[in-house]
Amino acid sequence: MTKSDLYAVFGQPIGHSLSPIIHKTFAEQTGQNLLYQAREVGLEHFTEALARFVAEGGRGLNCTVPLKELAWRQADVLTPRARLSGAVNTLIRQAEGGWLGDNTDGVGLCQDLTQQGVMLAGKRLLIIGAGGAARGIVQPLAEAGVASIAVVNRTRDKAVRLAETFQAVTALEVLDFAELDGRTFDVLINATSLSLSGEAPPLPAGCLHVSSICYDLAYNLKAPTPFVRWARMQGAAYSLDGIGMLVAQAAEAFYLWRGIRPDTRPVLASLIGAGQVVGERVG
Ligand code: ATR
Repeated sequence: MTKSDLYAVFGQPIGHSLSPIIHKTFAEQTGQNLLYQAREVGLEHFTEALARFVAEGGRGLNCTVPLKELAWRQADVLTPRARLSGAVNTLIRQAEGGWLGDNTDGVGLCQDLTQQGVMLAGKRLLIIGAGGAARGIVQPLAEAGVASIAVVNRTRDKAVRLAETFQAVTALEVLDFAELDGRTFDVLINATSLSLSGEAPPLPAGCLHVSSICYDLAYNLKAPTPFVRWARMQGAAYSLDGIGMLVAQAAEAFYLWRGIRPDTRPVLASLIGAGQVVGERVG
């Protein structure tokens, strides 16, 4: 049997990463001979771990927390969407040597929304948060033909900087939480890290209408995230967490590496089934 092509995800912590099972399933589904490993790598060991991976013949790499910004700096070439996002989650080994850095998070979000039947064209969006996660999604959302994108963040300056970064792509309206009263949005995306501390962002109930869609970039296979719970209580039409985005960004990375698009649906269904998600995926 020919040797499998080597891929990996680096991050810290990495023990609970779903990427190995997702890529293993994609490889089986598409008949690709590859090995995908999870490696515990922190910021201080990234450079040497990457060099070792190259020496082993590594063909492609995913980077997750806390390495996405460092991977952005270490990439030899960046795709336009990665350059603006300031973060790289996918590295592709180039035939001539060196790494091409891309960011598949935003396109993963858009693909998951589309797959769930959410049309972005013409919608008024609210992004909650202005950190790394928000930076990764602005450009693909803007390119999906939305009517407008507003950003609300606890620290206004950070949202202003985000708007400046993307001004050539789209006009982002910067808001404080206090300015949300009386405003209504069609799609609300939680890009804060608040789920990690078990909280939902402080949004007024009135910023949803009966057809509004809420999407949390965070996910939890065991229970609905606080934002999904909040959205459901407010009567949002759909409230989704980020498990679909996780699978879709992996599929996009797989496509960049192997030139073949896996079907995300069975993988997503099996993850949700295995986790017995209590939260509604669509509902
Ligand atoms: P990530 O890479 O996950 O986006 P980050 O870059 O640290 O992480 O950004 C975290 C985001 O969550 C920021 O928008 C942050 O708001 P600030 O810019 O004001 O820090 C937001 N966030 C984190 N804790 C928050 C809290 N307690 N209340 C409101 N927003 C919070």
